[in-house]
Amino acid sequence: MQLKALLTQRFAAAMTAAGIPSDCSPMLALSGKPQFGDYQANGAMGAAKRMKTNPRDLAAEIINKVNLEGIAEKFEIAGPGFINIHLCKSFLSNSLSEQTHKILDVADQKTVVIDHSSPNLAKEMHVGHLRSTIIGDCLSRLLEYKGHTVIRQNHMGDWGTQFGMLIAELEIQLGDGEPAGLALNDLEVFYQQSKKHFDADPAFADKARDYVVKLQSGDAHCRKLWKQFIDVSVAHNLDIYQKLNVGLLKQHIKPESSYNDDLEIVVNDLCEQGIAVDSDGAKVVFLPELADKNGNPSPMIVQKSGGGFLYASTDLAALRYRVADLKANRILYFIDARQSLHMKQVFITGRKAGYAPHSVSLEHHAFGTMMGSDGRPFKTRSGGTVKLADLLVEAVQRAEKLVREKNSTLPEADIKAIAQKVGIGAVKYADLSITRTNDYIFDWNAMLSFEGNTAPYLQYAYTRIRSIFRKAGIVAKTMSSPIIITEQQEKNLALKLLQFDEVIDQVAADCYPHTLCSYLYELASAFMTFYEHCPVLKDSVAKDTQLSRLKLCALSADTLACGLDLLGIEVMEQM
Ligand code: ARG
Repeated sequence: MQLKALLTQRFAAAMTAAGIPSDCSPMLALSGKPQFGDYQANGAMGAAKRMKTNPRDLAAEIINKVNLEGIAEKFEIAGPGFINIHLCKSFLSNSLSEQTHKILDVADQKTVVIDHSSPNLAKEMHVGHLRSTIIGDCLSRLLEYKGHTVIRQNHMGDWGTQFGMLIAELEIQLGDGEPAGLALNDLEVFYQQSKKHFDADPAFADKARDYVVKLQSGDAHCRKLWKQFIDVSVAHNLDIYQKLNVGLLKQHIKPESSYNDDLEIVVNDLCEQGIAVDSDGAKVVFLPELADKNGNPSPMIVQKSGGGFLYASTDLAALRYRVADLKANRILYFIDARQSLHMKQVFITGRKAGYAPHSVSLEHHAFGTMMGSDGRPFKTRSGGTVKLADLLVEAVQRAEKLVREKNSTLPEADIKAIAQKVGIGAVKYADLSITRTNDYIFDWNAMLSFEGNTAPYLQYAYTRIRSIFRKAGIVAKTMSSPIIITEQQEKNLALKLLQFDEVIDQVAADCYPHTLCSYLYELASAFMTFYEHCPVLKDSVAKDTQLSRLKLCALSADTLACGLDLLGIEVMEQM
């Protein structure tokens, strides 16, 4: 059982035995400082308030009743009634020796659909798509690691009105003899060309509008042009996913266009159920649940008066598909906070229409914006959107410079490979380590620093451990030495190592990857402190102590590598 859960259980029993009402929580928490013990039970204060007694006396009564024989060696009552818990070293070493990262029982495994990345294909992927792509990737990896069935859904935008304009432009450029690959070499430039054309030439604009309708009703010529465009854009995205070390593949793409045939069915169904109503020729769902302060229900248009469908109609069709066909028990949406209202509307409507029963958890995990150093959304010098591809190239270049400065004796090919992992890792970690819902400032120097809560620091900690094993000539994987804890630094490291599963469970539940980042940073720091105070390979160290410390090193390396892998960040043997 996980440490915190075990302590909570034992303290809850003690509180009951002390006559405390069962709804008072023991409130177990990690201690902030070693002098306050390893954990604290803070429930005595709340319970005493309820029972109108003295909290310190009640804390003493709880300690009297608690059974932690062989688990805790000392308790102290601090301040108004905190209980400091000092765990037994032998208990920690035994738990660590027996620790297995168990995956879930079959009964607890769920089918989790994860909607992430989902860029619009009309333009090149830009920095605005980074967050959804990597946060969703982290949760996909983590839930899969726990044993859930994860189905990624890349809800790419390939069906909006812009595509009429884009294929009309493509038609012209192909007519001039240009092959599609070349015409679409730079999607950003291509988009701007067609937009210019659209704004300046009414005949072109008419054609563009005509082509949207034709495209959506299945006209072969328009479909062919569209397909050519989409293929180039998708290939560009897949290339970025690969560079980013993100697990999204072609088979995860379930674009908006794939719901085309469902849209009419869904809207008709909503009308028949009386959920959508006619409003000036459009079909609209009015939601009193989301009424404004004057009591006006929140409107969500599902079909325009001209007959066209919208983003909302597609999302309802997607929700229906995810529950009915993919058999999802839990659906996670990683989308920008600005779409919060849209998601609420979709969820409420989906529930009403019976597309998602209450047994299916619908979760929009919103996130903030990536900002530039000026505190405004991240832009290029000239104020344009930053292409993700360019950002990644720069990250790797900057990392390469650093790696060369740090270790210039490495072979050229190794430097390149390390720079790739460090550069990409730094960009991802800088994003994942910030509380998801906050905005954050994009800062090259901070993210590429070898000190502090950064990817390079963690990757470096990992290489330090690996070099110990190279020096010792021992294969870490095969070590089965008993762990002997005597020093405080060993105890702190052991405690950290034992908390890994707890952290994973928390992230699996609330989808905040920064909790995992903070944990890995604390683990790496605990390792560094341990390594400074507890010699490992020195001749003066007794053999069993040496093997025990090597085992702690091995577990630290494994845990760091596993945690970083769940974040989608790679490690290396040296840097
Ligand atoms: N394509 C949308 C955008 O770029 C994001 C789609 C998110 N997923 C969804 N099911 N709505 O804003």
